[in-house]
Amino acid sequence: AQEVKDEEKLYRYKGVLYPRILCPEENLKALESVEAREDDILLAAYPKCGFNWMEGVLTKIMAAGMGKQPQTLKPPLLEFFGPDMIKVLDQAASPRLLGLHLHPDNIPASFYTKKTKMVVVFRNPKDTAVSYFHFSNGNPVLPSQSWETFYPQFLSGDVPWGSYFDHALAWDKKIDDPSVLIVTYEELKQDLSEGVRQISSFLGFSLTDAQIQKISEDSTFKAMKETSASSHGPLGNVFFRKGEVGDWKNHFTAEQSQEMDRAFSKQLAGTRLGARLHY
Ligand code: A3P
Repeated sequence: AQEVKDEEKLYRYKGVLYPRILCPEENLKALESVEAREDDILLAAYPKCGFNWMEGVLTKIMAAGMGKQPQTLKPPLLEFFGPDMIKVLDQAASPRLLGLHLHPDNIPASFYTKKTKMVVVFRNPKDTAVSYFHFSNGNPVLPSQSWETFYPQFLSGDVPWGSYFDHALAWDKKIDDPSVLIVTYEELKQDLSEGVRQISSFLGFSLTDAQIQKISEDSTFKAMKETSASSHGPLGNVFFRKGEVGDWKNHFTAEQSQEMDRAFSKQLAGTRLGARLHY
């Protein structure tokens, strides 16, 4: 990956940027033929909103609810699988925990027709941008750049998987869909056990208070960072970086902060999801 020049690391598919090495066009095309199952659990999140956190939480909820470890699929995102790997998906035992960063309109249609349960994690735009900036610099498949260069790209949606605001708006429209549960990073930080309880009951698992407590303790930032080298390999520290609400204050200038507030109001004012993305 290091040999690819920064300007060649991203490419556009149907108008949206993707990392070329992990999500070549053939992967995105192959995805269209993924057959969802009614008992799949689909984790959907815009990049850097807490996907890996939630993946850990969901795996633990499933394990507690089923009394055995769920079969975990690698790679973590459907976008990374590619044509041959579709077979692996078809052979995987139910219930499958699947994940993606795609805009809801680009999620394979069968997930909607099968009414697959979707857990969506969202995060306030400023911390998402800061997390994305650090991630882009720490991950060799993404370009490295300064905050001054990255920030306007994030604002205009010229980043892998597209515009944060487009994703938030599209998920807001699904907020009453009984197959969709939207949780936010900030709510989880405030009360993780409440989040675990809510997600478990959405998925139809009745866990004991002790199970919920244990899952919450094992899913704190500290706990997950400690095991990140074994769970995520050499990029463990990049995935589990700081884990806080409000780190944007260390990066945004006052002008950038006001500009993003205006963009947020323009695009998300009056939405129920927008009202939950505190920062
Ligand atoms: P920071 O870069 O702000 O630290 P994703 O998994 O979607 O790539 O999101 C990564 C962000 O989630 C990172 O944010 C990471 O530190 C944070 N994160 C991961 N696990 C977490 C946890 N258990 N609690 C809080 N934040 C967590």
